[in-house]
Amino acid sequence: MAEYVLWKPYYSVADPSLDMEHKIIIGLINELHAAVISKKEEPDLKSISDRLVRYTNEHFQHEEQVMKDCDYPKIFEHKLEHEHLRKKTLDFHNNLNLVTGRDMLRFLNDWWCEHIQESDRAYAPYVQMAIREGG
Ligand SMILES: [Fe+2]
Ligand SMILES: [Fe+2]
Repeated sequence: MAEYVLWKPYYSVADPSLDMEHKIIIGLINELHAAVISKKEEPDLKSISDRLVRYTNEHFQHEEQVMKDCDYPKIFEHKLEHEHLRKKTLDFHNNLNLVTGRDMLRFLNDWWCEHIQESDRAYAPYVQMAIREGG
């Protein structure tokens, strides 16, 4: 089956480990899509949502550390965006009986694709600068 959403080279944030984490999150969104269209979304939804909560937290922690290490000036605003998504992901997780897989999919796909392309790519030049300076 074709993937629902693909990581593209222009999503790169100049840090291979963060790019890899974004690919894993996109993989989870594809799993969610597969669950939604397979019609047996209920058992799968719980397992996907578990991993989304865990993985989102791990990724945000790592990314916030990278932004701090390269003195990214807009880290505060960026952390607020993370906080919003963390809360939203937990809300979905705690209300799986009230939300549909489709709602989750639409929200998470839009949020992640926009966040990676806009907010995450905005720190990439600072990561590159830190690499050049050997930091
Ligand atoms: Fe981010
Ligand atoms: Fe990110």
